[in-house]
Amino acid sequence: MIKLQTSLTWPGCAQGKYIVKAKGCMLAVLSWGTAEEPLPGWGPFAYVPIDPAGNGIFSFSGRRGIPREADHVWARCYAAGFGSYEDVSAEIPEKYLSAADDPCAPHHFSLLTDLHLASKPWKIKQALRAAKSNTVLLLGDSTNDGLPEQFSQFMSCIADSAPEKIILPVPGNHDITHPRFIGKEADGSAGYAHFQKALLEKAAEKGCSFTYDPCSLAWALQLDDLDLIGMQCVVSGRKFLFPEGSQIDWLEDHLASASAAWHIILCHAPLLAHNPNRNAGVPYLDKNKRLQELVSRSGRIIFLSGHTHVSPNVLTGNGEFDTEHQNIYLDCGSVVATDTSDEMGLMSPDWKDGCRTELIISEDTVEIIMSSIESGVKYPRGYYRFSAGMNGGVHLCR
Ligand SMILES: [Fe+2]
Repeated sequence: MIKLQTSLTWPGCAQGKYIVKAKGCMLAVLSWGTAEEPLPGWGPFAYVPIDPAGNGIFSFSGRRGIPREADHVWARCYAAGFGSYEDVSAEIPEKYLSAADDPCAPHHFSLLTDLHLASKPWKIKQALRAAKSNTVLLLGDSTNDGLPEQFSQFMSCIADSAPEKIILPVPGNHDITHPRFIGKEADGSAGYAHFQKALLEKAAEKGCSFTYDPCSLAWALQLDDLDLIGMQCVVSGRKFLFPEGSQIDWLEDHLASASAAWHIILCHAPLLAHNPNRNAGVPYLDKNKRLQELVSRSGRIIFLSGHTHVSPNVLTGNGEFDTEHQNIYLDCGSVVATDTSDEMGLMSPDWKDGCRTELIISEDTVEIIMSSIESGVKYPRGYYRFSAGMNGGVHLCR
């Protein structure tokens, strides 16, 4: 007789304990599902070793959401030797289920970061085709070396695979041409600057109206009640310095004057306190402290970054909701293969796949769905639902 029990913490949140009792088994694979079956199109969220006494426990941390479609948890329990298995499911208590669909038409963005185009354009085309939204946010390191020919190749990939999409980029450190190609004194941002100009002009033809920081490549765009801001956080030599230092002044003035339901900041590198790699020590960003203070003071900010290549499947996760300031921090997994921590002994091979992220914003909920670009399977560990108007963490996810 095998059994599965859940001990959840908050409505709509996956956080909690999942307890399997399966004498004679070695491994339980946990998934979201309905009463009939595991959810199609979703991968498992845990691989749980079963001890000789038949006990296995998984502690889910990181505030992931429970998918709207799920009302059960499933465990597939493999017998010793993996010659057979048995399935068991447990109903999710009603008070922990996710809220129903929001009837308001949502804003939807596809996020791609760290594509590192060097010589494999098929990967870029695959990622662009996988993007579900007509508006794609490129969070930096679109190319590997920042060379003009790599940006030309990237534009060809867009013409081939996403000709109708609005594509809004910010630069990453790899988009700045390395000094070894052009000499120490040269400014390596020319190739990227040309790329950004071409993409923003194309977006302007489709009705987008941009404002710019006069001292850098930073831009801002109002889309209905959303305020999108593209930061330039790298300069020549690939250093994470905000050019001129005045870009943060521009951002401060902009946040003070632009009213919006959400300010969405695109910045290639994460803030130190919200870096899934490390949250202490030396920050990536030269102006980290001032930028963090500004973001916290403003509130209602969705801070999007990349750069770390950390897989959304690491246990700590890469999405956070600061309920005090109503800010969301999301460090997206890379389009190139993602990094998983060594502490994960058992995991699905696709957790290392290149990743795409869908960001869906409705009146009171921000939904984040991350998936494998290669297989299309959705990662439960890359799924978040943050409800904005709520506080205290009580209804964080629902
Ligand atoms: Fe980077």
